[in-house]
Amino acid sequence: AAGTVAADTRRRELAAAPFLVAARGGRPAHLPVWFMRQAGRSLPEYRALRRDSGMLQACLTPDLTCEITLQPVRRHGVDAAILFSDIVVPLHVAGVDVDIVAGTGPVVASPVRTAEDVERLPVLDAGQIAPVTDAIALLLPELGETPLIGFAGAPFTLASYLIEGGPSRNHERTKALMRSAPGVWHALLGRLADMTTTFLRAQVAAGVDAVQLFDSWAGALSERDYREYVQPHSARVLAGLADAGVPRIHFGVGTGELLGAMAEAGADVVGVDWRIPLDDAARRAGGTHPVQGNLDPAVLFADAASIASEVGRIAAEGRRTPGHVFNLGHGVLPDTDPDVLTRLVDLVHRQPV
Ligand code: CP3
Repeated sequence: AAGTVAADTRRRELAAAPFLVAARGGRPAHLPVWFMRQAGRSLPEYRALRRDSGMLQACLTPDLTCEITLQPVRRHGVDAAILFSDIVVPLHVAGVDVDIVAGTGPVVASPVRTAEDVERLPVLDAGQIAPVTDAIALLLPELGETPLIGFAGAPFTLASYLIEGGPSRNHERTKALMRSAPGVWHALLGRLADMTTTFLRAQVAAGVDAVQLFDSWAGALSERDYREYVQPHSARVLAGLADAGVPRIHFGVGTGELLGAMAEAGADVVGVDWRIPLDDAARRAGGTHPVQGNLDPAVLFADAASIASEVGRIAAEGRRTPGHVFNLGHGVLPDTDPDVLTRLVDLVHRQPV
């Protein structure tokens, strides 16, 4: 919690952590790196632990969540841990009937498409998040000086799952509702913004050192629609964390045209996928925000020389930004060789800063 002795002590101990220094636009001792989806199916030790439990069960069993979160930190020596969870966890604990189906993603039993559906959505109570905050309490002493990133899904990305009922390529029902029933749309996104704020504030109070707001599917929108239908709600979530004192990372896929609007929503760090160079991304984001990214996850299937050349290019582009946290442009693909990830961490650490 901001202001408690334990939180202040931890903040002091982590002040020089390269991830946090870079996220604040300072000059880190080395180029920091972590990976979206660093915990997960690329790791045999993860597959072994998950054999007997469903995805949501693993997210709500604190000792399991803690162990899975630590696995990539131990194996790869990444500069940050990300809490093992999922964007649908707050919906699930609040009472929405949602499950995560292996190989598919989140599936919602009763999609939300009318004013009545929105009215029926439960309100998230901070107490319902206890399994997650308990996992954070277990993690902090284990992590020592490695920062812990908390996260949540942004209102638009959550709304897409709720409206479509599951993963969607074209988000057609979502975009139809947005235009045809703007009142219902804004009521839904307002509810989701409240839920997301409650979820992130609880993670910060429990001691996470940074947060990432995943608006994974925002890149499906034009900038005009993003600004009208989505940005005010994400901005409210990010503003709700302004007093938390932790860096706020804002990420989406295919958001080259939205980076300015996503930065303006109230991000401290802007996440970038692999489609545009980082220095260009930093300019589009307004020229003052550190950036995070942006190696194409598929490059990890190429030969070592190709990987090294892409890492060198990205690190050089990163040196022309207000700050750079190395990451992939999206999550680790399940078939990635974990040894390639370990070597990548080492290679990133040897780049000049
Ligand atoms: O990054 C990390 O290491 C933390 C863990 C994390 C997971 N999901 C674990 C997970 C994070 C940050 C997420 C966020 C998430 N979940 C997002 C936003 C990030 C992104 O990828 O754009 C989204 C869109 C989801 C929804 C979701 N959950 C999808 C699309 C899937 C994949 C379905 C599949 O099986 O391919 C999930 C399930 C999920 N979330 C898995 C993991 C490790 C796979 C579950 C398994 O191992 O069986």
